[in-house]
Amino acid sequence: MSEQVSIQWFPGHMAKTRRLIKESLPLVDCVAEIIDARIPKSSRNPELDALCSSKPRIVLLNKIDLADPAITERWVEYIRKSGAMPLAVDCKSGRGLNKFLPLVKELLKDKIEQNARRGMSGKKIRVMVAGIPNCGKSTFINRMAGSKKLKAEDRPGVTRGTQWIDLGSGIEMMDTPGMLWPKFEDPTVGENLAFCGSVKDDVIDIELLARRLLETIAKTYPDFLRARYKLNGELPEEGAELLALVGRKRGMLISGGEVDTERASAVVLDEFRSGKIGRISLEKPDMTESGQ
Ligand code: G4P
Repeated sequence: MSEQVSIQWFPGHMAKTRRLIKESLPLVDCVAEIIDARIPKSSRNPELDALCSSKPRIVLLNKIDLADPAITERWVEYIRKSGAMPLAVDCKSGRGLNKFLPLVKELLKDKIEQNARRGMSGKKIRVMVAGIPNCGKSTFINRMAGSKKLKAEDRPGVTRGTQWIDLGSGIEMMDTPGMLWPKFEDPTVGENLAFCGSVKDDVIDIELLARRLLETIAKTYPDFLRARYKLNGELPEEGAELLALVGRKRGMLISGGEVDTERASAVVLDEFRSGKIGRISLEKPDMTESGQ
C-alpha cells in the first residue's frame, strides 16, 4: 500500500467563515447542511456540527448521481436515525430538490404554527445553507433561487456581505462560504476530501492521491476499474502498479516507454470525480458505527 496522503491546510478565510456562521446562527430557524453522498462521514464538518447543535438540521446528501445508490439509501436511514432530516439530491440535474421546501416546513412545523398563533404568520422562516468547499452549495443555491436574485443585506446583527435569497412560500435562505476545519484527525478523512475535490489539488501530492484512490477502488469496486480501463483478472494491490497499468492501457507514455504517471494521475482523479469510473461510495454507514 502507498503511504497515506498528508494534508495540512487551513487558509485564513476558513476561520472567518466560522465566525460568520457563529454570528449569523441566532438569526436562522434551521440549518441545511450539504454533504457529499460519496463521503457522507468525511464531508460533515465536525465544527459545523458543534456550532449548529441547537438548530434543527436538514442534511442534503448531494451528488447522489455519483454515489452507489444502495449505500446512499443506507446513509439516508442512518442520518434519519441520528435525529437530522435527510434528503438525497442531485443538484446538477435538480433531482430531489422539489422536496426541499416541504421538508423545511415539516421540520419547522411547530415554529410555523406558533408564529400563526401569535398573529405573525407572515414571519419568514430562515434557513442557513452550509457545507464544505465543492459540496455543491452554489449549484444548490442557484437551483433553488432560479431567477430570483441573491441580495447582500446589511441587517442589524448580520455580518456584512451575507447573502439572503427569498425563495417564496415564506422561506428565506442564507448562503455561507464553504468551510473546512483546521485538522483532519483521521488521515482517511483528509484523503477522502481530496479524492472528491474538496481540498485544492495544489496542496496535495497528486500522484500519491491517485495511487491511493486506485487502491481504494480496487478493493471495493474492482469491476468498475476492470471495465473502465480494460483490465483483466486479478488486480494488483499496489496503487503504483495500478496507476502504471491504467497509464499503459491509455497509451500515456513518455520517451523510453515509461508511463507518464503525472498525466495518468490527473486522468484517474478526473474520471473518478466526474463519475466516469462508476457510481462509487467511499464510506458506508457501518464504518462510522464501528469508528473505522
Ligand atoms: P461549492 O459552491 O460547494 O464549492 O460547489 P459548486 O456548486 O461550485 O459545485 C462543485 C462542483 O460539483 C461543480 O462541478 C458542480 O457542477 C458539481 N456538482 C454540484 N452538485 C452536483 C451533483 O449533484 N452532481 C454532480 N455530478 N455534480 C455536482 P465543476 O466541475 O467544478 O463545475 P461545472 O463545470 O460542473 O460547473
